[in-house]
Amino acid sequence: MTRLAIAVLISGRGSNLQTLLDACATPGFPARIALVISNIAGAAGLERAERAGIPIAVVSHKAFTSREAFDAELKRRIDATGAQLVCLAGFMRLLSTGFVTAFHNRMINIHPSLLPAFPGLHTHERVLAAGVRFTGCTVHFVRAETDAGPIIVQAAVPVLAADTPETLGARVLASEHACYPQAVRWIAEGRVVVDGDRVTVRGAIGAAQALVNPPVETT
Ligand code: GAR
Repeated sequence: MTRLAIAVLISGRGSNLQTLLDACATPGFPARIALVISNIAGAAGLERAERAGIPIAVVSHKAFTSREAFDAELKRRIDATGAQLVCLAGFMRLLSTGFVTAFHNRMINIHPSLLPAFPGLHTHERVLAAGVRFTGCTVHFVRAETDAGPIIVQAAVPVLAADTPETLGARVLASEHACYPQAVRWIAEGRVVVDGDRVTVRGAIGAAQALVNPPVETT
């Protein structure tokens, strides 16, 4: 079996990277991580990759005079590995249009909200302030706009009355860890079809039931 080679871009903790490392270490998983790149030296995720024996690179954005030059170096490193898919996993740099275009439908991102709601930073604080009853996570193909693009999979996560940004963030993160390896698996299996703004996952069965929060009480 030829496994899909992926490059994972991180900036920090790397818990989503860890789920990808774990998935790729599972026999039969159809993808492998060819390279992990961090724009931050000392990012905790780099140690996770090293522990798994995966090549790492630090490409500091501070070493470049323009976003385009930084992105060109990222692209050069990724292309050198032969990676066919780029996974953003807590990579906190905006990417230039040229870079996004070069990886059109070959770059995915995970975001801790039900996009298109709550793109950007401080998601859980804004979710709590808005009083919505559900949030979640989204894995999507990357487009030029921040946290936007065709959606592959989402998890709906209830917001509870006593939640703090930390408790909610932890619940959402657990859903991220379930969704990201699944999305990579679908892509590697060739089951993901992008048609304009919409994605179909061949053979996937849609969820059948509405979630209600707080739940409807039966009398
Ligand atoms: C994750 O919650 C991810 O969804 C978020 O950063 C965190 C990284 O955590 N990404 C974004 O907000 C992208 N806009 P991790 O380093 O433990 O995977």
